[in-house]
Amino acid sequence: MKSFTYLILYILAQNSVNSEKPFKSIPVTVKTYENDTVLLPCYMDEMEAKLRVRWYKDSKLLGDSHTPHEILPPRVRMHTNYSLQVDQLQAQDTADYTCEIIRPEPWGPIRQTHSIEVQYSPTIKTIPEDGFLEVRKGEYVDIGCETSGTPPPIVDWRKNGEAMALLEHRSRIRFRAEHRLLAGVYECLANNGVGEPARATITVVIQDAPVVSSERVYVHTAIGLRAALAAKLDFAVPPARTAWYRDGRPVKTDDRIVQMVQDNTHQLIFRNVRKQDLGNYTFRAENKLGMADLMFRLTGVPNAASFKVDVALNKASATSFTLIWEVDSYSTIIEYNLWLRPYYGRLATPEPDSFTTETPVNHWSKIVVPGDSSDGPIHSQIYTVRGLTPSTVYEAIVTSRNRFGWSKPSSILHFATEPGAGRTLPSTSDYTDITPILEESESEPPHNISHAQILGHVNEMSSGARETPCLAAILIISLLIFHLS
Ligand SMILES: *[C@@H]1O[C@H](CO)[C@@H](O)[C@H](O)[C@H]1NC(C)=O
Ligand SMILES: *[C@@H]1O[C@H](CO)[C@@H](O)[C@H](O)[C@H]1NC(C)=O
Ligand SMILES: *[C@@H]1O[C@H](CO)[C@@H](O)[C@H](O)[C@H]1NC(C)=O
Ligand SMILES: *[C@@H]1O[C@H](CO)[C@@H](O)[C@H](O)[C@H]1NC(C)=O
Repeated sequence: MKSFTYLILYILAQNSVNSEKPFKSIPVTVKTYENDTVLLPCYMDEMEAKLRVRWYKDSKLLGDSHTPHEILPPRVRMHTNYSLQVDQLQAQDTADYTCEIIRPEPWGPIRQTHSIEVQYSPTIKTIPEDGFLEVRKGEYVDIGCETSGTPPPIVDWRKNGEAMALLEHRSRIRFRAEHRLLAGVYECLANNGVGEPARATITVVIQDAPVVSSERVYVHTAIGLRAALAAKLDFAVPPARTAWYRDGRPVKTDDRIVQMVQDNTHQLIFRNVRKQDLGNYTFRAENKLGMADLMFRLTGVPNAASFKVDVALNKASATSFTLIWEVDSYSTIIEYNLWLRPYYGRLATPEPDSFTTETPVNHWSKIVVPGDSSDGPIHSQIYTVRGLTPSTVYEAIVTSRNRFGWSKPSSILHFATEPGAGRTLPSTSDYTDITPILEESESEPPHNISHAQILGHVNEMSSGARETPCLAAILIISLLIFHLS
């Protein structure tokens, strides 16, 4: 009796360890498509006639060989050889299918599991469903692409056509609309290797105060000419009211002074400038989230001059150098002021401490150069500076005056004199073969040019270029915060 019990236990143990050994069929995963037919086998080496076989879908009973026609759902058949056939496959047929063979006592049931995966190409449902989201600056943007498809699709995102990193294929993106440039077209792409990937877009609009810019806020003109002030409305969501002001009052327009709007460029046009038109103007754009002002100056004074670099003409000697510059002025140039001083700073970025210790007293000297008698608008001037020190780097700036006044200073020109006869070069000199180099200068009045920071120059374009990585950082940080919380 005791030994018989052991035998049963032994058989049971064998069954549980090697439960699939008696099967001649092997477990399969069938990857297939909609409307296909699949046949799942279930047979043993020595198939006994009076076996009882049950099929399960996941863990739910699907069919029993003792009652073959009672519980089988539509599209599913069990053959006399116990194979299970599923016709016209649909998405819900994706499951594990287990065949269970119930054997006579004392043997327990044995099971074998197959899988069916009905592959579907991906589809996307966007959040929000209409693919459009408008928020105020500072509010949260919550967008997503809910995907379906078998196998589960992987989601990738692009913003305005650029891949977005670090999203770990998530289907939902949430971030704070910290900056209007986070607005744009967010596109999700879902791919599972079946058929074509699916795409969907969500347009995110961020409302903020308007942004205005201009290529030229300092507009040179002369009496009797046509002049135009042009402001660009770079951003206006929601749409902005715009107006031109002079001295705090709206500009009165008539047939001579007209406003024109084309695309996002707003112009104030003077068809025939009169003396009283010269002055300061403001372009203002305003919406419920704020306003932006841009100051313009309509002036008769010359534009800032620019030095010309031409090795053939910039004749250098030990003690002289020939400078060439050009200036736009609709009126005769009365005189130029040429500002000159030896250059002690480094042409490369100065090191902060060496800069303060090295810089000796370094005053600008002014040379008055007479103007020409031409009416312009382009005035060229050549001037040879004499009495310079050999082997020295100089910097030069020029300003111009017509009957309306003094122009803004030109960009800085760096140039060097030749080594002098009988003098040895200072061994540390970096500048022996320097060619003239122009540097951008910020507009600063020439009488206060003794500041070193005149070399600093920021324009709208470069600040725009810096914005992008910063925005990416904001977005990534926002996403990480959401990920953690
Ligand atoms: C499957 O059959 C249905 C109905 O006949 C049809 O609408 C569907 O397009 C078919 N699917 C495929 C992938 O052929
Ligand atoms: C089981 O029966 C079906 C239907 O007769 C047949 O198509 C299939 O090939 C059989 N399977 C095996 C393994 O013999
Ligand atoms: C225009 O603005 C500039 C700079 O703000 C100022 O120096 C100048 O006096 C103003 N001109 C007039 C006519 O108001
Ligand atoms: C120019 O700058 C100096 C400081 O370097 C200052 O003392 C002086 O008052 C300024 N001149 C004018 C006209 O602003």
